[in-house]
Amino acid sequence: MTRKLLKGKHLITFQDWTNQEINMALDLAADLKKKFLRGKPHRLLRDKTLFMMFFEQSTRTRNSMEAGMTQLGGHAHDLTPDKMQLSHGESAKDTSMVLSRMGHGIACRNCFYGIGNKYLNELADNASIPVMSLQDDLYHPMQAIADLMTIQEYFGKDLKDIKIAISWAYAISHAKPLSVPLSQILMFPRFGMDVTVAAPKEFPLYKNIVKTAEQNATENNGKLRFVDDMDEGFENADIVIPKNWGGFGNYSFDEYNANEEECKKEMKANLDKYKNWICDERRMGIAHRDVKYMHALPADRGNEVTPAVIDSKASIIYDEAENRLHTAKAIMALTMGGRPQ
Ligand code: CP
Repeated sequence: MTRKLLKGKHLITFQDWTNQEINMALDLAADLKKKFLRGKPHRLLRDKTLFMMFFEQSTRTRNSMEAGMTQLGGHAHDLTPDKMQLSHGESAKDTSMVLSRMGHGIACRNCFYGIGNKYLNELADNASIPVMSLQDDLYHPMQAIADLMTIQEYFGKDLKDIKIAISWAYAISHAKPLSVPLSQILMFPRFGMDVTVAAPKEFPLYKNIVKTAEQNATENNGKLRFVDDMDEGFENADIVIPKNWGGFGNYSFDEYNANEEECKKEMKANLDKYKNWICDERRMGIAHRDVKYMHALPADRGNEVTPAVIDSKASIIYDEAENRLHTAKAIMALTMGGRPQ
């Protein structure tokens, strides 16, 4: 398959990409990483324009995309709603149609619950250029592929039976989104990994996406299981990813008809019950001797994880963050029609 086949393809979720297409992105990311580290030019998107729309804050996503576009020889516009007419109610359709006439890619972060993924899809449905998700209420594909690249760097391309614990953890810094664990449970079993999700019963993941993740596991000889005990999740794990999620509390409500204020109150009460869900040295000791600690960042130091763990040799968080750059560049180059030099 040539790279051309990915030209114009949207990335809202990797469920819309085949494993072969994901592997193509990973291969290009590895190549671009080498070139970046050796200071070799790799201007695959010379003179191309990317429009980035951020409805929320970002450090890694914003900078990996903007720096990535510069390094690929193009330019990224860093847009926020207050800079655009969408703050006056301009529709996703009109925004998308207009930007499609002016550039080569649209990227958007919109994490509002019940809104973000719909907004991204509306952009994509009306765009004649690729639309890339920078995270919505359901998916964070750019994080998932950077995680996969990082894991392959440490464990090799064949991840069959590599045991990974995706665990809920306590946090107070902000209500953290579900899109990271949801994207991870969808992605990792597709590459044969043995995934355990540990979470208190009050912080489940969306049922529909769990069902799809289970199908991914079955179809790709991966494993996916759920436990409600952090220690059990960590047992003999090769990789642990302890991170807060589910800032909106109990998911017995319909995921698209949530009463946000009620849910936030409930979340606070539930959150306080699980202050001991922290990744500390004792828990790292339950995992495999050579366990790696990962986190998409930003991390809530002292709540999600102790400084002794996040700053330990087991921690590969900065490799993971750096790979956001290389994978973002690969996705942009492939979908925006980057020309090999
Ligand atoms: N992990 C991640 O998406 O980080 P930012 O929110 O800083 O982009």
